[in-house]
Amino acid sequence: MTGNKGIWERQYDQAENFLWSLRPIQTLVDYSPLVKEGNVLDLGIGEGRNALYFANKGFEVAGIDISETAIKRSLTAAKEIGVTINAEVNEIKKFEVEENTYSLIILANVLNFFNDKEIKEIIKRAKKD
Ligand SMILES: C[S@@+](CC[C@H](N)C(=O)[O-])C[C@H]1O[C@@H](n2cnc3c(N)ncnc32)[C@H](O)[C@@H]1O
Repeated sequence: MTGNKGIWERQYDQAENFLWSLRPIQTLVDYSPLVKEGNVLDLGIGEGRNALYFANKGFEVAGIDISETAIKRSLTAAKEIGVTINAEVNEIKKFEVEENTYSLIILANVLNFFNDKEIKEIIKRAKKD
């Protein structure tokens, strides 16, 4: 795992409840009618606000995050809401995105934490098909 794991763990630890709330990003809500039914992948899922929104709409949702705390929170929230998501700790820069699998790949408020070279590589991996 990369060096920023500790930084993110601390951020989540310091949040009394949710760091980002459970309200999905409005842009995703607005564009959600355009997403074909199927699988959604959330890279940097955080506490799951966007993933849970799509799971609630009937999508099969998977997500990864470098923070164990974030993943635990997203899974707990999913249980409480009564939806299933497949969330696990993983590193975006190493994660292999399965080809021809996802109707939507979310990278919400995530790319800004990487440098230009990393961003290009992450997008290349996410877009390969
Ligand atoms: C600003 S938060 C956004 C969380 C979520 N996408 C949202 O919109 O609520 C950025 C997230 O990216 C995760 N992250 C940062 N670097 C990562 C990496 N290298 N691999 C996986 N996740 C990472 C952080 O742990 C954090 O949960």
